[in-house]
Amino acid sequence: MARANAHAPYSGFAVGAAVLSDAGAIHAGCNVENAAYPVGSCAEAGAISAMVAAGGTRILAALVLGAGDALCTPCGACRQRLREFADDATPVIVAGPEGVRRRFSLGELLPESFGPATLGRGDG
Ligand code: THU
Repeated sequence: MARANAHAPYSGFAVGAAVLSDAGAIHAGCNVENAAYPVGSCAEAGAISAMVAAGGTRILAALVLGAGDALCTPCGACRQRLREFADDATPVIVAGPEGVRRRFSLGELLPESFGPATLGRGDG
């Protein structure tokens, strides 16, 4: 997947992400680091951008894939990025190179979240 194209020369930690949209399409992304460290972006951000650019408006499921012994769960900022287009019940699948490691719901990863509904927007 997109992870093979990750630009991660500083951390050496390649991440791939994919989101399934309401249009039935799968959009992938990878982390893109930068010599100015804070400018780098996460794999989830790339996948979400690709979905939005293609016209998708909702995430039905998300997958994040990273190597190492620890689970490559989405970082805090990416949990919030996912929340913009998904709800508490949306599956977030965490995988390693060997396959699926664990399944969460977004609500488990980001409980009591601040989302569009907090601002009286959308159905989320
Ligand atoms: N990373 C992601 O792409 N997604 C996450 O949710 C966690 C972290 C990337 C950012 C950075 O390029 C590398 O992993 C190490 O933090």
